Amino acid sequence: MSSAPTSGKPAADDTASFGFNEVAADARQRLVNDVFASVAGRYDLMNDLMSGGLHRLWKDDLVAWLAPPKTARRFDLIDVAGGTGDIAGRFLEAGGPGCAAVLCDINPAMLDIGRKRLNKAGLAGRIAFAIGNAEALPFPTKSFDAYAIAFGIRNVTHIDRALAESYRVLKTGGRFLCLEFSACEVPLLDRLYDFHSFEVIPRLGALAAGSAEPYRYLVESIRKFPKQEPFAQMIRSAGFGRVSWRNLTGGIAAMHSGWRI
Ligand SMILES: C[S@@+](CC[C@H](N)C(=O)[O-])C[C@H]1O[C@@H](n2cnc3c(N)ncnc32)[C@H](O)[C@@H]1O
Repeated sequence: MSSAPTSGKPAADDTASFGFNEVAADARQRLVNDVFASVAGRYDLMNDLMSGGLHRLWKDDLVAWLAPPKTARRFDLIDVAGGTGDIAGRFLEAGGPGCAAVLCDINPAMLDIGRKRLNKAGLAGRIAFAIGNAEALPFPTKSFDAYAIAFGIRNVTHIDRALAESYRVLKTGGRFLCLEFSACEVPLLDRLYDFHSFEVIPRLGALAAGSAEPYRYLVESIRKFPKQEPFAQMIRSAGFGRVSWRNLTGGIAAMHSGWRI
């Protein structure tokens, strides 16, 4: 039997972090969607400005770790929270003719930009687009050879549900890969990174995109996300085997990998 809350406040289970604030869990996704709807048109430019182009190298590293097959044998990737399509695009460009991708995102504004970009890059025949929530993917069990999520999972309200879904949609032998901001482990670089995060990025957002708020959320959500090893443990708890992770730029970002065995 479930216990009813005893006060007017929501029970702890019903709340979730939105940046440094606690909000009702069922309202959080709407707030996240508002953030990405408001930044969609400038998302790619702001990514370059805020990371000094580093996000491109990190995404290259993720796709290199995946090592898409170069053959004509069919190999299906789902790029979840794929936004404007950086991972799906790199995967298709690196892989052979058997590689196909689904770009999936909850936000139609982000997905529209991804669709235009990838079609313009001549990848139309090998990519499909789907609006979907990482917590309840609109695909059958065991559909994909690989699942990637880049800078997406910290935006999801229930990370454990998203991990369970990633496990469900992967075939046996399939691979989970996640690229996410993490905990910088290099003294001094961590101080510089803090300054950049809390002082520079919101100002850049205000100057280049007209509002600091969405960028403040992005920075705060990074700090609330579990560090490297606790996140690896969450991936193991979802059922994945051979879980490992690699730091990028001193741990400012990290890539996690696991296998559905
Ligand atoms: C920071 S962007 C990352 C986009 C892209 N993967 C990249 O690396 O550039 C985060 C994306 O997560 C999407 N997102 C947020 N919550 C989601 C959810 N529950 N399910 C699927 N996508 C989600 C947002 O719409 C946004 O496009």
